[in-house]
Amino acid sequence: MNRFGSRWEALGTRAFNSREEVRSEFMKTRVIQVDPAEPDPRAVEEAAAVLRGGGLVAFPTETVYGLGANALDRDAVAGIFRAKGRPADNPLIVHVSRPEMLSTLVTSVPPSAEKMIFRFWPGPLTLLFPKSAAVPDIVTAGLPQVAIRMPDHPVAHLLIDAAQIPVAAPSANVSGRPSPTSASDVLEDLDGKIDVVLDGGPCEIGVESTVLDLSGTVPRILRPGGIPREEIAEALGVPVEVVSAEGEIEGSSPSPGMKYRHYAPKGEMYLLTGRPEEQRDTAIQRAQEVLKDGKGVAVLSSSENVPAYLGLKEKFPGLFHVLELGPRSDPAKIASKLFSSIRRADKLGVSVILSESFDEAGLGLAIANRLTKASGGKVLPPRSARPLTVLFVCTGNTCRSPMAEALFKKIWEDRGGPGGVRVFSRGTGALPGMPAAPEARAVMKTRGVDISGHVSMPLLPVDVESSDIIVAMTKAHKEAILSRFPAAEGKIFTLAELASEVVPGDIPDPLGRGEEAYEETAALLEKAFELVAPRLLKHPALRKEDGDRSASG
Ligand code: TXA
Ligand code: MG
Repeated sequence: MNRFGSRWEALGTRAFNSREEVRSEFMKTRVIQVDPAEPDPRAVEEAAAVLRGGGLVAFPTETVYGLGANALDRDAVAGIFRAKGRPADNPLIVHVSRPEMLSTLVTSVPPSAEKMIFRFWPGPLTLLFPKSAAVPDIVTAGLPQVAIRMPDHPVAHLLIDAAQIPVAAPSANVSGRPSPTSASDVLEDLDGKIDVVLDGGPCEIGVESTVLDLSGTVPRILRPGGIPREEIAEALGVPVEVVSAEGEIEGSSPSPGMKYRHYAPKGEMYLLTGRPEEQRDTAIQRAQEVLKDGKGVAVLSSSENVPAYLGLKEKFPGLFHVLELGPRSDPAKIASKLFSSIRRADKLGVSVILSESFDEAGLGLAIANRLTKASGGKVLPPRSARPLTVLFVCTGNTCRSPMAEALFKKIWEDRGGPGGVRVFSRGTGALPGMPAAPEARAVMKTRGVDISGHVSMPLLPVDVESSDIIVAMTKAHKEAILSRFPAAEGKIFTLAELASEVVPGDIPDPLGRGEEAYEETAALLEKAFELVAPRLLKHPALRKEDGDRSASG
């Protein structure tokens, strides 16, 4: 059968330069607008005729847009796999417009399935049935069960009814990309590869149907979706098992297609975990690190956290983006904006996408599943409440400790130490407000470090309390601090204790001994920090920051 019919004749008189040119001329995707509430039957009939003729039609459902073909025509179904670039072992869902259509597709309907149909069809619930011989193997990827659902959308309903055939339809995206929730999303992926898009506006639910397997002893959700687990368990009167997204990412999957990477954006995506405020703080810290390198960042945010990100938006216009999903109390809203927000982040060209995570009750389970898969299992757990804080102390806070502060920062950065570390300096007998000594400024300048902005400060209890590690220049400093500030116990060290290999004892005060003495001090500090910086990388305060977990699959 030739599904392009009379178009051959129109093409016969033209000259083409390449196969690509033939193909794009050959396959023009037609967009047909339809009113989602009251679709015009003539418009829908046009699309139905394409389906009957073996063509490919994208159409809206209440969940996402589907890419439909005649489920009983194996060549037509092969076209779906080609257009999407879908692996042949990932089976398709067959869509019906009324339960009676099951009779040709399945060999039996178990009572529990009947119960589900009665309760949830039409709607976002896909059920598995033993398939009949009428269903080509290509639809089920050779499996003995066929997945079937009856969508709850006037356009989908009318289309299937008008075509008078069951319609095999995966989500209408290129394989591995986020599912489409509007006709323009479909065109972004499939323009020129399919015959028709029925544009019926945005999809209401925004995440796909729940896929439920009732063939085992325990009902099993193979994919959480539009109908929550709680409602299914309540309707069945038994507990329901759910296949975890993490398990699938790690490669153990009961449904062949689910092992593939799904919903993947072009940017690196991370899922923020912890309490909402912790997620927000982690996002801001991580975003700053990425933005500093001149790379773009998008945060998928709860409405509650949006205001907290506005400062970054102002500071990095065009580079930092906040995409609001919805209030935490409204998972339906969040689900409806999920895929379109991931697509939007891609269009903004960001390198990194940070998504907040949400409560897993109700629709939240489907949201969590899609976010986990889109991020490939990469999470960013909360960082410690305050960053690793390093304090250097000498006497006047004008020579040794400001040089130490500046040199440590430089070596920490050069050594690729994590960002967000706080380094500062104080003096046990400092007068407030003095600049660094001119000789100190000079020897720092030769190292490309500017400490002309330094202002001396006396050591206060709050400095000791807020530090993770305090580095004293001499043994006398350490003892004086310990006697005045009991909070220093356990976290104060002389530089000689931290780098005994290169620092034999006290760091002598260069004050009044000329620039050469300052130069010697700086060189000694540098040698010491080359040892100390890598050692501090193992400080427990940093361990919580080391949160990236990469997916193995
Ligand atoms: O909401 C939806 O379900 C949308 C709209 C268009 O109806 N469709 C959809 O289809 O999401 P698709 O192909 O993107 O996802 C179908 C899922 C896949 O994870 C597939 O592996 C699973 O259902 N599936 C299909 N047939 C199956 C079968 N016979 N056994 C096990 N899993 C099956
Ligand atoms: Mg899909």
